[in-house]
Amino acid sequence: MPSLPNSDELIFFVNGKKVTEKNADPEVNLLFYLRKVLRLTGTKYACGEGSCGACTVMLSRYNPKTKAIHHFPATACLVPICSLHGAAVTTVEGVGSIKTRIHPVQERLAKCHGTQCGFCSPGMVMSIYTLLRNHPEPTPEQITEALGGNLCRCTGYRPIVESGKTFCVESTVCRVKGSGKCCMDQEDQSFVNRQEKICTKLYNEDEFQPFDPSQEPIFPPELIRMAEDPNKKRLTFQGERTTWISPVTLNDLLELRASFPTAPLVMGNTAVGPSIKFRDEFHPVFISPLGLPELYFVNTTDAGVTIGAGYSLAQLNDALRFIVSEQPKERTKTYRALLKHLRTLAGAQIRNMATLGGHVVNRPNFSDLNPILAAGNATINLMSKDGQRQIPLNGPFLEKSPGADLKPDEIVLSVSIPFSTQWHFVWGLRLAQRQENAFAIVNAGMSVKFEDGTNVIKELQMFYGSVARTVVSASQSCQQLIGRQWDDQMLSDACRWVLAELPIPPAAEGGMVEYKRTLIVSLLFKFYLKVRRGLNKMDPQKFPDIPEKFTSALEDFPIETPEGMQMFQCVDPCQPPQDPVGHPIMHQSAIKHATGEAIYIDDMPPVDQELFLAVVTSTRAHAKILSIDKSEALALPGVVDVITAEDVPGDNNHQGEILYARNKVICVGQIVCTVAADTYARAREAAKKVKIAYEDIEPRIITIEQALEHNSFLSVEKKIEQGDVEQAFKYVDQIIEGEVHVEGQEHFYMETQSILAMPKQEDKEMVLHLGTQFPTHVQEFVAAALNVPRSRIACHMKRTGGAFGGKVSKPALLGAVSAVAANKTGRPIRFILERGDDMLITAGRHPLLGRYKIGFMNNGVIKAADIEYYINGGCTLDESETVLEFIVLKSENAYCIPNFRCCGRPCKTNLPSNTAFRGFGFPQGMVVVEAYITAVASQCNLLPEEVREINMYKRISKTAYKKTFNPEPLRRCWKECLEKSSFYDRKLAAEEFNTKNYWKKRGLAVVPMKFTIGMPTAYYNQAAALVHIYLDGSVLVIHGGCEIGQGLYTKMIQVASRELNIPQSYIHLSETSTTTVPNAVFTAASMGTDINGKAVQNACQILMTRLHPIIRKNPKGKWEDWITKAFEDSISLSATGYFKGYQTNMDWEKEEGDAYPYFVYGASCSEVEVDCLTGAHKLLRTDIFIDAAFSINPALDIGQVEGAFIQGMGLYTTEELKYSPEGVLYSRGPNDYKIPTVTEIPEEFYVTLVRSRNPIAIYSSKGLGEAGMFLGSSVLFAIYDAVAAARRERGLTKTFALSSPATPEVIRMTCVDQFTDMIPRDDPSTFTPWSIHVS
Ligand SMILES: Cc1cc2nc3c(=O)[nH]c(=O)nc-3n(C[C@H](O)[C@H](O)[C@H](O)COP(=O)(O)OP(=O)(O)OC[C@H]3O[C@@H](n4cnc5c(N)ncnc54)[C@H](O)[C@@H]3O)c2cc1C
Ligand code: FES
Ligand code: FES
Repeated sequence: MPSLPNSDELIFFVNGKKVTEKNADPEVNLLFYLRKVLRLTGTKYACGEGSCGACTVMLSRYNPKTKAIHHFPATACLVPICSLHGAAVTTVEGVGSIKTRIHPVQERLAKCHGTQCGFCSPGMVMSIYTLLRNHPEPTPEQITEALGGNLCRCTGYRPIVESGKTFCVESTVCRVKGSGKCCMDQEDQSFVNRQEKICTKLYNEDEFQPFDPSQEPIFPPELIRMAEDPNKKRLTFQGERTTWISPVTLNDLLELRASFPTAPLVMGNTAVGPSIKFRDEFHPVFISPLGLPELYFVNTTDAGVTIGAGYSLAQLNDALRFIVSEQPKERTKTYRALLKHLRTLAGAQIRNMATLGGHVVNRPNFSDLNPILAAGNATINLMSKDGQRQIPLNGPFLEKSPGADLKPDEIVLSVSIPFSTQWHFVWGLRLAQRQENAFAIVNAGMSVKFEDGTNVIKELQMFYGSVARTVVSASQSCQQLIGRQWDDQMLSDACRWVLAELPIPPAAEGGMVEYKRTLIVSLLFKFYLKVRRGLNKMDPQKFPDIPEKFTSALEDFPIETPEGMQMFQCVDPCQPPQDPVGHPIMHQSAIKHATGEAIYIDDMPPVDQELFLAVVTSTRAHAKILSIDKSEALALPGVVDVITAEDVPGDNNHQGEILYARNKVICVGQIVCTVAADTYARAREAAKKVKIAYEDIEPRIITIEQALEHNSFLSVEKKIEQGDVEQAFKYVDQIIEGEVHVEGQEHFYMETQSILAMPKQEDKEMVLHLGTQFPTHVQEFVAAALNVPRSRIACHMKRTGGAFGGKVSKPALLGAVSAVAANKTGRPIRFILERGDDMLITAGRHPLLGRYKIGFMNNGVIKAADIEYYINGGCTLDESETVLEFIVLKSENAYCIPNFRCCGRPCKTNLPSNTAFRGFGFPQGMVVVEAYITAVASQCNLLPEEVREINMYKRISKTAYKKTFNPEPLRRCWKECLEKSSFYDRKLAAEEFNTKNYWKKRGLAVVPMKFTIGMPTAYYNQAAALVHIYLDGSVLVIHGGCEIGQGLYTKMIQVASRELNIPQSYIHLSETSTTTVPNAVFTAASMGTDINGKAVQNACQILMTRLHPIIRKNPKGKWEDWITKAFEDSISLSATGYFKGYQTNMDWEKEEGDAYPYFVYGASCSEVEVDCLTGAHKLLRTDIFIDAAFSINPALDIGQVEGAFIQGMGLYTTEELKYSPEGVLYSRGPNDYKIPTVTEIPEEFYVTLVRSRNPIAIYSSKGLGEAGMFLGSSVLFAIYDAVAAARRERGLTKTFALSSPATPEVIRMTCVDQFTDMIPRDDPSTFTPWSIHVS
């Protein structure tokens, strides 16, 4: 290797300040640099793979040729700092700050209630801000497009989009689809019940500061001078292990390429970066021609267009758009096909970073562009010191054939894409788990040329992505078809031949084998139709059109900007104006979320001597540990210790939860040891060097079925029974039996589990800061592990970036793991889980198997139900028994079935231990109920909604466990949902649509819900609070509840404000801690506000009782006067408030009890459209009616309902955990696991908080944290309805099982047709599949 000069200075700007880095390390990315070097922690780390948008920043570069400044969004986790020479970086701190001035983007995101946990908020701000820098008056479509690469797990996106839409010229915030009018102006006002005063404004736009784009910071003049410097020279940055070289001319680049033939050319780094991080690639030298003018150009000739390899995909998009607008349509078919895919490829950030050259050279097998480029006869123009040459993209290069690669000294200069011609059709097709920001499951680029004026094939090309290790061509089939007419017989032969030419082995990596085979032919069929339509347009006399019923198959689902309305009870006009209860108050931390000033664990500044922890986890599901060899790890620089079970001074197995595996492992992902080092990178490197020898133990149990075979359970059976089930079965008209599978779900909180454990010098004390829903539990585990009294352990929790149940029990285990390391090393430990480790170790929602036997009459009345539930609990008990109990107790949902039996057991398997997750089993369990209701309806030729109505509780009744309740609010929600959604009219319209469309079907479903809050054990419903009044009148409120994004602190401020009769600004909530409120129960089960609110209320009332004599004596005095006087009178200004808890109980022996304090009712109606050929679906509209009783804060409550609904929708549709048969979780990041994005939310979304009474709870409110989750199942059942319509049309009338999630794969394979019939099927006994279902 030639010798390299010393390092140059790296110069860039961050938020207007110059950064000069003398020792720039090519291995350091911008996110790390911002967070750890510059201490700008507003930009968040949530995945490290470019897929979540939490780390979005704006990059700006000056182009000396055009003299223009180019602003674009980028994911800082994939930006090497060395690529930033001459660039300006703007982070959320640079946009605005509480300390100086907040920016309108930040203000509006906060005030529109677009933040909950706030972890995604800086990224959201940066995406909208960057858009505004380029388009100060964006269209709603641009807003949606800009947010496509940003994930939010809390809000359901609606309020985020809404905040963005406030910048659009035409105010579209409250507009009923297409009409352009405000929904409140409509004549029939069908959404509004005239009896009640309904409010629809959750914020006041008049309060927004105006947006003045001219006030934005200018681009640093120094960078302009640098860019225009005629004497620019090659730059070299020398890191610890690697060298980065930026050439200054094309010749220089070619020289370097020849000198370092194996060095990657880093452009967008969206392929190189992930390979280094996730595939452990190492490159001693990087060459980065980013910004080299010769790689940036567009050249249009008569033959087509040539685009420089340096163009980003976003620039490519703009260039193609321009050409399409200029050129005749027939010449731009390839460009339009590319544009279609460019809209959904990744998110805006990646599209702005990834380059055309990087894309064609990298050739990922899922490439969305290469199949189209190949089909469009594009060529790549290569250059080396020896000259230039072209290679076609439709040749062996694309398939990475040996010898067909670039020569080591070559670079891609540009890509030439010819114009299409008159008798030439080019099209791109793709299908992914979700519409945007997801790799294709299968994609294709296809083109056909006909003999002029005929339908005789002259040239045919088909390229498929994601069906093999590279993009592949069905070239032989295409060859065979030359000369054939474009007709049905040709299609039939083509399908058979292509399937034979592109076989997918049954155990192929990625799985979904039969689905992929089906897609191969389904996409071909779409192309066939598209071309036939095109031919018809060209010569209608000669070429008949496709059947009208088929035309909708040609259209992809459009990406619409969501619209809708939120309705809630207005505050009583008689309520004092100062009283905030009932008002849609913004989240207490919202502005800090939006400015990045809200501090999360890893944002806390470094602590002296701190060490970083990395985990070593088991790679076997069930095995003996034969040995652990730490020597190589310990020998690495910076490594301080490797911690194992031997180092736990106290209880390593507390309550059956194992901290460090000792002697044996019981799941893949179990922590075996941890490595403590002075940097995280070193700890992680060392963790890879720990060698563990295993010996497998039989049996290895992964699925529920296997657990049942082995009688492997975590606890005893739980059962509820009423009536005489056996007897009832004898007298019913019909009996059906069935099985429903609901797979698990990953919490995917944006902030991974994070802990800072600090040992104190004295008395074995330890302080932990962490994100948790249950600090008491952490304290307990840490104390047990260290063998010290709990009083020595202080757990502090200020906020966390989402929790959803995943931070109830797991932080205790991880906290104890860190505490043991801190104890052993005697140094503070920072333990921030990587996304992949978090997903692997902490598990999630329990997969569920439900078996039912239902006896019913022909009129749909259900007389008897016998239900069995099994959940996959994983390897330890965790919350599995309680989850199972919840499922059994709630298993009737909204229906009164006189003879009812339900029992269940949690299965013990060798998977990581599943845990609490929003809804706590209800969202899975009730799918079984609604599935059998749907099955009964199908047997009785009734609509499921009719069967629901017939069997729903109607009057004051007793549940199966004999709790009396009044279902009136349930009936109201149900009725209103049916009426206000115009369900029956829309159902008719959908049916009409279905008769007119063969390949697209619409479906609707309305699902009712009877949910509960709280716990069946009274002492778990208790809470305490501490309220201090200081002498200046300010008030500090502390309670045992945790702020996890739900706005608990905000509501507690509202409570304290009302009770103390002082403005909210007097009241402060800082954090939750075991030192201030001991023994607090978890913040879960939707009861955070209920129980902590009562405790805060109690404390405030105690204080007010003490103050009353003073107030009576001086009624005109001010709050501050009374407080001063109270102090002078030696009255205590601090009080503990207590709520004993709802007095619930459950007697499992007698199968009866007062298990939950009250019910939350609701109903939701969803309408979907399904593409039967691909399995994609689009959620057209959702209406939710939820019984909120009196909402303390409608903005927060609606936020909870919408967020939970979208999370539920994810559970039931896109989120799919993939396990190997050996129990290895494959899906360990946002690339593999697809939570909903902004594109998935309903096009129209209406949410109504229904008023009822609930005197038992504070201010007659109801806990709404979880209830919305199950309402997401209306999407699942709407899909079922649409699929059923497709099946009926194909003559399949029998009831069918649709399991959850209804992924595109499930939908497509259930819409049986000639294409699913055509594919080869494999005998399951002949191979081991790549992945299995564990429910
Ligand atoms: C989160 C995420 C989502 C994505 N989603 C999609 C998707 O939905 N569909 C899809 O198709 N793709 C997707 N991609 C892949 C993306 O399109 C590619 O990673 C990207 O196009 C590569 O371009 P780059 O400039 O970043 O390449 P780099 O990572 O900079 O380089 C990649 C390779 O190309 C070589 N190279 C780069 N430029 C040249 C040149 N001019 N001459 C010779 N060699 C060169 C480098 O040596 C390197 O080996 C996604 C990527 C990410 C990170
Ligand atoms: S952390 Fe960078 S995109 Fe997720
Ligand atoms: S607010 Fe978006 S992830 Fe929590």
